[in-house]
Amino acid sequence: MKIVAANWKMNLTRSEGLALTDAIVKGMSSVKDVKVILAVPYPFLAEVGERIKDVRNLHLAAQNCHHEESGAFTGEVSAKMLRSFGAEYVILGHSERRVQFVEKCRTIRVKMEVAIANGLSPIFCFGESEEQRMKGNHWKAVKGQLSLGPNMLTEDEVRKVIVAYEPVWAIGSGLTATADQAEEMHKHVRSVLYSRFRELANEIPILYGGSVKPSNAAELFSQPDINGGLIGGASLVAEDFLAIVKA
Ligand code: PGA
Repeated sequence: MKIVAANWKMNLTRSEGLALTDAIVKGMSSVKDVKVILAVPYPFLAEVGERIKDVRNLHLAAQNCHHEESGAFTGEVSAKMLRSFGAEYVILGHSERRVQFVEKCRTIRVKMEVAIANGLSPIFCFGESEEQRMKGNHWKAVKGQLSLGPNMLTEDEVRKVIVAYEPVWAIGSGLTATADQAEEMHKHVRSVLYSRFRELANEIPILYGGSVKPSNAAELFSQPDINGGLIGGASLVAEDFLAIVKA
């Protein structure tokens, strides 16, 4: 089953977020065989969770969590708290966190372990920068992030993980990787996961993220190694997001 995840990032007020949720819930009645995940800001979790809890194939996610289980970390939120508010997934290692909040591969790997130990499925994000692609270092960059991320987990842990290839130059820029560019990278990702997990690698969903829109979603999602998408900007408009889900 394909997976389409919405990443609202730091957008929307309470009333806007709930209206968007209601529109998505309504649209889900005509969606078949797609798992849809809504990654909402922390304050939305309880109310959005309440609205989607009985909707088939609609799931709740957070956009980050702390790498410690609990304690004196003012302003932070733990994986256990997220689970207790109904979240099933958590985005970890998004490039905005890696760059703006200087999150290192090791911290992201620990966050994945803590998330899994507390019943959450990580959506592990990775991808090369524009500079790395220009210099031809994108294969190595992606391999490095995967090697220090999911490939450090146990087989039991990695069964819970979704990975999301998000070339940094494509995020929010309007520039999308072509279906061919994305597919060839997804094949590479699969082979890096295969080097560690063998056949199990074929069961790990690999999403594409970076300026996915209703106009390019169908072509991207038709590629054999693209198992779905992680959608930022276009997930804030119900009509666009639902069009992507239906693609
Ligand atoms: P975008 O964001 O769809 O706006 O490019 C994707 C993401 O950052 O997850």
